[in-house]
Amino acid sequence: MSKILITSALPYINGVPHLGHMVGCLLPSDVYARFMRMMGHEVLYIAGTDEHGTTSEVGALKEGLSVEEYCDKYYNQHKATYKAFNLSFDCFGRTSSEQNKEITYHIFEQLDKNGYIEERTIKQVYSVDDKRFLADRYITGTCPHCGYDKARGDQCENCTKVLEPTELINPRSTISGSTNLEVRETKHLFLNLPKIEKDLSEWVAQKEPYWPDVAYSIAQKWLKEGLQERCITRDLKWGFPVNKPGYEDKVFYVWFDAPIGYIGITKQWADEKPEERSWQKWWLNADDVRYVEFMGKDNVPFHAIFFPAMLLGTKEKWTFVDYLKGMSYLTFEGGKFSKSEQRGVFADKAIEEFPADYWRYWLMANAPEASDSSFTFDGFVGTVNKDLNGVLGNFVSRVLKMTASKIGAEVPAGGEMTSVENELIANLQEKTDNYLRYMENMEFRKALAELRAIWVEGNNYISVTEPWTVIKENPERAAAILRVCINLIRIFGILSAPIMPTVAQDMLGKLGLSIDAHSGLKGFNIADEIGYLKPGHKFEVGEPLFERITPERCEELKAKYGSKK
Ligand code: 2FM
Ligand code: ZN
Repeated sequence: MSKILITSALPYINGVPHLGHMVGCLLPSDVYARFMRMMGHEVLYIAGTDEHGTTSEVGALKEGLSVEEYCDKYYNQHKATYKAFNLSFDCFGRTSSEQNKEITYHIFEQLDKNGYIEERTIKQVYSVDDKRFLADRYITGTCPHCGYDKARGDQCENCTKVLEPTELINPRSTISGSTNLEVRETKHLFLNLPKIEKDLSEWVAQKEPYWPDVAYSIAQKWLKEGLQERCITRDLKWGFPVNKPGYEDKVFYVWFDAPIGYIGITKQWADEKPEERSWQKWWLNADDVRYVEFMGKDNVPFHAIFFPAMLLGTKEKWTFVDYLKGMSYLTFEGGKFSKSEQRGVFADKAIEEFPADYWRYWLMANAPEASDSSFTFDGFVGTVNKDLNGVLGNFVSRVLKMTASKIGAEVPAGGEMTSVENELIANLQEKTDNYLRYMENMEFRKALAELRAIWVEGNNYISVTEPWTVIKENPERAAAILRVCINLIRIFGILSAPIMPTVAQDMLGKLGLSIDAHSGLKGFNIADEIGYLKPGHKFEVGEPLFERITPERCEELKAKYGSKK
């Protein structure tokens, strides 16, 4: 057993997450956390809301709330939505917490003490009409690198280059659209990344065999281009006031305290039960911890370069990321999700339409890993009807109904396994080993294809053995077949649990079992598991596992969620 620390990028507090956010980091990190727990590891799974920055100030202003009230409101919404999606965080915290402030101050002090913090006078964009300095995200203009005309002042989402707002061509205020912008001089603190660059590139170089290509190449590209000093303070009210004389009226830049949030939230978790939990055991001198981060690919530079650089500069022995899973983007019916244009399925609405597991399965089966993928209702409905209903649901109800009506609602006695079963076991073992390996390697699309293939084996088995025919002449043989099938329901349930926790519990519940009580996935052995449920073990047929979605409903959904605009 090892200790595995898992974090998902912390979603910005403003706005409701859509399916793209769900599959971009939150859901895969949950699937991985659940899987690693089932493999017997000690997992700490951390996420939370990223609350600082102008976005919150502007959002609060629009809603007539104080920033604190605004953040409380949306924190609760995020939390409720993720709960409904069954995300199994050990702690879902907040970057604005006292714990995060304490750790942010500590890291800043170390960086300052070690000579990595520089004072610079910079020119910053002031919006005369908005009466405020504009944070980078609140300036829109044309990207100097690729010409995209809606680039934000912090990053161009088209070419992913990180920008300084003053680099934008034809800048305007995102808040008011005003072009009445002035550049004013103000003093700020910078992180001297060039000074950390040597240590950082040595650290990145040793990651080559372990990081996925996408993450490693983004990090290398950054290093090759040479690192620049990065401003870590802002002229805002909302944020952690800078703990350095002369800078008290400024706050830390949101991307400074956001990744520290992983540590801060771990401390929130530990503070809930100080007698049994320690945040340091996960983050400081924690040689036994393997740290896996999940994020969208636009977040990779912050996690592969800036955050590790901040930690390196402290000269303390923090836990550095071991594996960094950068996800690509999910599009909606070939276009972008947009709250303002009411296009796309947002997570809070998604779970009003269908149980979380339908979405969890579709999203993971179509996860944007090596490249972007697109959500379409036709695809979603097809998957729910064919894979979930047609393959898994159908197998479960056929087996249980047939056994209950022909023999009785308990695992039947009699008969023996034959070469057909031996072949089934060998086949399932091979597919299960593949599935476990893919999950361990976070190759989710491959893992889900393998899981589906495992369910298909159940259907193939029952088609080939035809227990409904066999029972007439050879009831003993039919009993043996159905006993195998009922055990397959349990096996399929356990294997599906990291992806569809509720369905898995439903499956095991029909057999009077609890998913939490099984012995885990490590060394999962089909030959043993297929004989787990013994003759006489009671079951109930219950409700079908899944609801079929009609073509009419599919059309309604398309109209409702803007697929046809
Ligand atoms: O892109 C985002 O949604 C950021 N809020 C991610 C922050 S990740 C971490 F560093 F906090
Ligand atoms: Zn660009």
